[in-house]
Amino acid sequence: MSDNRRRRGAASLSDMKGSMGSLKRSMKEYYKCFPKLMPFVYVIIVLAALPNDLSPLIMQKIYKLIDVWFKTGDWESAKVDIVPLVIILIVIYAIGIVLSTVQAQLMAFMTQKFLDHMRCDMFGKMQKLPIRYFDSNKHGFIMSHYTNDIDTLRQLVSQAIPSLLQAGLAVAIVFVEMLYFSVWMTIVIILGIIVMGFVTSKVGAGSAKYFVRQQNSVAATEGYVQEMMNGQKVVKVFNHEKETIESFEKLNDELYSDSSKANSYANILGPIINNIGNIMYVLIAVVGGVLVYYNVPNLSISGLVFEVSIVATFLNMSKKFMANLNQVTMQMNAIVMAAAGAERIFTLMDSEPEKDDGYVTLVDAEIKEDGTITEADHHTGKWAWKHPHQADGTITYQELKGDVVLDMVDFSYVPGKQVLTDVCVYAKPGQKVAFVGATGAGKTTITNLINRFYDIEDGKIRYDGINVNKIRKDDLRRSLGLVLQETNLFTGTVMDNIRYGKLDASDEECINAARLAGADGFIERLPEGYNTMLENNGANLSQGQRQLISIARAAVADPPVMILDEATSSIDTRTEAIVARGMDKLMEGRTVFVIAHRLSTVRNSDVIMVLDHGKIIERGSHDQLIAEKGTYYRLYTGAFELE
Ligand SMILES: Nc1ncnc2c1ncn2[C@@H]1O[C@H](COP(=O)(O)OP(=O)(O)OP(=O)(O)O)[C@@H](O)[C@H]1O
Ligand SMILES: [Mg+2]
Repeated sequence: MSDNRRRRGAASLSDMKGSMGSLKRSMKEYYKCFPKLMPFVYVIIVLAALPNDLSPLIMQKIYKLIDVWFKTGDWESAKVDIVPLVIILIVIYAIGIVLSTVQAQLMAFMTQKFLDHMRCDMFGKMQKLPIRYFDSNKHGFIMSHYTNDIDTLRQLVSQAIPSLLQAGLAVAIVFVEMLYFSVWMTIVIILGIIVMGFVTSKVGAGSAKYFVRQQNSVAATEGYVQEMMNGQKVVKVFNHEKETIESFEKLNDELYSDSSKANSYANILGPIINNIGNIMYVLIAVVGGVLVYYNVPNLSISGLVFEVSIVATFLNMSKKFMANLNQVTMQMNAIVMAAAGAERIFTLMDSEPEKDDGYVTLVDAEIKEDGTITEADHHTGKWAWKHPHQADGTITYQELKGDVVLDMVDFSYVPGKQVLTDVCVYAKPGQKVAFVGATGAGKTTITNLINRFYDIEDGKIRYDGINVNKIRKDDLRRSLGLVLQETNLFTGTVMDNIRYGKLDASDEECINAARLAGADGFIERLPEGYNTMLENNGANLSQGQRQLISIARAAVADPPVMILDEATSSIDTRTEAIVARGMDKLMEGRTVFVIAHRLSTVRNSDVIMVLDHGKIIERGSHDQLIAEKGTYYRLYTGAFELE
């Protein structure tokens, strides 16, 4: 479904079916959370409603006794029957209060626990989704699953379902009670219900549609606010505040229009039903009065004859009946909204997770002098690929060296738009391999393929001779230190952010990594050194400082292969030299891929690949490429001239 159509929420029949399926599924999830508690709670919900539902039976008796008392004027003998009944009624209501309180407490607990479970599920699932998912779904929209959509589920389980259950039960019981007292009077009420049902279906259908739209509009508005917040500086630089406000107003107006339509439908429904109820109240009084006056023979389960006490009880019951029907219709909107919310949540949960057929794993290893490798249960500083062979059930170990080969690799993000063509790269352990080339040439894409953010279309990628598809993704990525082109720091201290590379690293290891990355100097000058809090992606640091922390974060993991994508682009050349020295020390005997526009960064690489429109057009050492006087030469000398 296109985003737009989805947002406008054109509620077709199949959409509704899907929503209802999701509703059922969320109830199943709810039940799964509390398999034992749930039946108990529903019994309490029913019991809590019973006193109210059953009271007419006693009330009718009291009315009748009062009627007799008024006629005879003898309170002394009347009170013998009236007082015990009143006491019973009070006791029943008191039990009702206790049960309702227990119900409310339990519902509050269960609802929040259920939402907690759903949010965790959703977040857990989100972590398993491929990068592609985040490329193609608006982040604001994903965010709204955690706010809006979850809130609709809250309304569903904490209000709509219990209310529906109680109201449904009340309607059923009161209906039987009405038949118990008088069939004729019941018919009057049924006629009223038919009128109400007609009105509700006309008004309610419109309202449901707009409630779903309202949900989608909220998501769109939230997404927009988030995007503009992130881009606040760009908005200001281009003086786009006015346009931004205008775009927001458009979205906000849509939200206003959808919400006001949804709510106006819902708001008129209540008064309409109430007033039909009032008319029925009058009708019952008149019809009842006529029946009593003319002594019309009664038809009822109880066999009671028509009298004022029955009419009075009916008046009471009709109020109750209407109130409960009203309740049912009011909950319908919550249910439609929850169905739509649940559908969106399950769309996320059902999105295909990142596939991983890898069976080769990475283990700590002990390597003897004769080259035999055994698996270790502690960190040894050496790693091995553990390769189970299905055919004969044997396991072989192979030392992790960091030999990476791309063999005739083709790739496209969007089918038909090839980004890489016949890319071949041979990186021996300990080599420094550089990619240079114009913006958009495909440098970052190559690194995305090595760590399998995306899967290649054709060709092979081998790591220490093993096809990367056979390596479990977690292990593959654990063996690669990646410094991304865009820096991302998380809320936490500088130390926390460096330790993100290896969660069990000691403070000392983190500080050493920072030294290697050349980050130590500036960190110590921060107000609280390594304990300085970073927020909003490290907004209190300079871009270069953020990059230095990212490098330290990758370095602390001490990986055999390191990929640096424009990792030092914002760092001054002097600091870059410090970083390079540190990295050289760190990377001794390891493979490093470096991507840089600043060619001085890649000069000392073992091999430099020049990429153009997804093809490698030149390869060789700096000196070789300069001697060739090709693209690299022109880039390099051009850069020189500029400098
Ligand atoms: N997620 C994506 N979805 C679709 N196309 C993409 C995606 N990411 C990149 N591309 C396209 O792939 C091509 C190569 O992009 P890539 O990021 O690899 O370039 P690059 O060489 O790293 O450029 P730069 O030097 O600017 O970082 C570009 O034409 C780009 O439009
Ligand atoms: Mg790039």
